[in-house]
Amino acid sequence: MIKPSGACGVRMAGTGSAVPEKILTNDDLSRILDTTDEWITQRTGIRCRRVSDQSKEGTFTLSRDALRRALDAASMKASDLDLLIIGTCTAEMRCPSLACRVAGDVGAINAGAFDVTAACSGFVYALNVAETMVRSGRYKNVGVIGADAMSTMVDYQDRSVSILFGDAAGAAILVPDPDLNRGCIYQTLGSDGRDWTGLYIPNRAQEVPEADKDNPIRLGYLRMDGREIFKFAVSKFREVIADALEKTGLTADDISQIVCHQSNARIIENAIEKLKLPREKVLINIDQYGNSSAGSVGLCLDQVWRAGKVPAGKPMILVAFGGGVTWASNVWNV
Ligand code: ACO
Repeated sequence: MIKPSGACGVRMAGTGSAVPEKILTNDDLSRILDTTDEWITQRTGIRCRRVSDQSKEGTFTLSRDALRRALDAASMKASDLDLLIIGTCTAEMRCPSLACRVAGDVGAINAGAFDVTAACSGFVYALNVAETMVRSGRYKNVGVIGADAMSTMVDYQDRSVSILFGDAAGAAILVPDPDLNRGCIYQTLGSDGRDWTGLYIPNRAQEVPEADKDNPIRLGYLRMDGREIFKFAVSKFREVIADALEKTGLTADDISQIVCHQSNARIIENAIEKLKLPREKVLINIDQYGNSSAGSVGLCLDQVWRAGKVPAGKPMILVAFGGGVTWASNVWNV
């Protein structure tokens, strides 16, 4: 197994998550779109998703609430943080960063704060960066959040994209640990920017590629080539998990959980089948929350953490892929 180096190991001291109260079911969507519960359930595994009441919630409030819960779980105060990193592509403002606003609101004054944009890979990207910074010894207590309010970015006049997405945030608090083997023992960050048109949010007509000019989805809303993204996600998901197991010398028996991005239940089922993964080690909650982009892995992590499914001494694997296109993995020794 890979021997991690660095000034110290890294412990996950607590996790938290937050979702809006409002539940949007497939039947609700079928009342405003030409779709059915049956079509959505069969093609995606999604039954409902959470959506923000935009008059009072969104990526900012979800991030803040998830962070507060993670700090509570870690028995820490916001003022203990010296860095906050948020993976998101739906921050309400371009400036300041979402991380600055959240840090200011919870009282993490003077902490470094910045956002990472990697679409659905955002939480694992942020986690990998944060872990590396704690392991180096340069930062001590780091908050990591993955959050997206995709309901603000989907065009509910279009059935092809809007049915997939929901809103959520997940957070984790990382702290130094004297045991070098604790924390991330292997990680990857990857992208292939040639395929960015598979999933993008254009704001100006001149950025829209010729082949997508007739797309009925309005400017400022998420556009997706569902079939291309499906093909990419199916193969990349399998590849990234297989690589993580091979490079660490671990088998599926050795790990406690594979905490994975929820993009489509068929994509996850495909990986379970092809890699012969024990079903009970892969949480699927897309039926309840849809695809919450950067919120999804953090939300799953909090659920398996609180359920006691990732005990100390057994590594877990976190894996995500998304727009960009991007992907990221992390083998974490709890
Ligand atoms: N309800 C009913 N019919 C629909 C709907 C809908 N909501 N959406 C599309 N259809 C129709 C299409 O118009 C098409 O009709 P046609 O055959 O008459 O032309 C038919 O259903 C098939 O359409 P496809 O797009 O081929 O459907 P597909 O089986 O590919 O499923 C889906 C579409 C669910 C979007 C699938 O492509 C998918 O899951 N792709 C990956 C999406 C994804 O995971 N995105 C995010 C990943 S990365 C990230 O998380 C950021």
